[in-house]
Amino acid sequence: MKGVILAGGTGTRLYPLTRLINKHLLPVGNYPMVCYGIERLRQAGITDILMVISKQSAGLYADFFGSGENFGVNLNFRVQESAGGIAEALQLAEGFITPGEKFVVLLGDNLFLDDLTPFVNKFNSQADSSARVLLKWVADPRRYGVAVFDPDDEEKIAYIEEKPKDPKSKYSVTGIYMYDDAVFEIIQGIHPSKRGELEITDVNNRYAQDGKLEYDVLQLWWGDAGTFESLKEAETQMRGVLP
Ligand code: DAU
Repeated sequence: MKGVILAGGTGTRLYPLTRLINKHLLPVGNYPMVCYGIERLRQAGITDILMVISKQSAGLYADFFGSGENFGVNLNFRVQESAGGIAEALQLAEGFITPGEKFVVLLGDNLFLDDLTPFVNKFNSQADSSARVLLKWVADPRRYGVAVFDPDDEEKIAYIEEKPKDPKSKYSVTGIYMYDDAVFEIIQGIHPSKRGELEITDVNNRYAQDGKLEYDVLQLWWGDAGTFESLKEAETQMRGVLP
């Protein structure tokens, strides 16, 4: 199985720091933030990885990671020209993924303590043309995508609401997604949202509509390091994860 890490976007919530350097290269402990995602994929046996980056700091990625050899993985890079949304960034992985192949996608600002291996194994034995997302219970899910469960089949997600004012569950959709190659056709069929982005939630909702969106729940700490507050928390939580 291959992995894709999405590290484009502008990181405006971390201005002025991200005017200088791309968000995913900001330090968390002794490493740039994105190293933790690479390590989680490697730990799950996924060593063929595409990183979608923005033009900002592109040279720094090459300088720091090179081929990925020092991190025990094989890294490829693609540049997303503008911050047109998570699904737009994901579309750049078409071609890297072999027809018929399943893969794991991580948002580069998502940091977490769970080992992905059991979830990846479950996805491997899941029916073709279906997707899997990882959820996390949080006290206030309003700044995330939020899962609404299928009342007839609790194993399935009925739909996801993106940043709802009045969430219908406490389960946020983390930036850990698993797809088959049908995802690229789905992305071609979605349209930019009000904020002008191709939304990953619209992609996931296409799977959900067809009753093909399954999930697992992360047991340990999870956060996205997209704000100063969450970046600070990540620093504490991720201490010692990498040597
Ligand atoms: O962190 C989990 C949340 O991530 C989910 O609960 C939401 O459903 C999902 O939409 C997303 O929400 P955010 O508003 O936090 O996404 P953000 O725009 O901060 O982008 C998250 C990562 O996605 C970012 O670190 C890099 C990547 N990205 C984002 C954009 C907009 C790209 O690679 N390219 C892009 O154009």
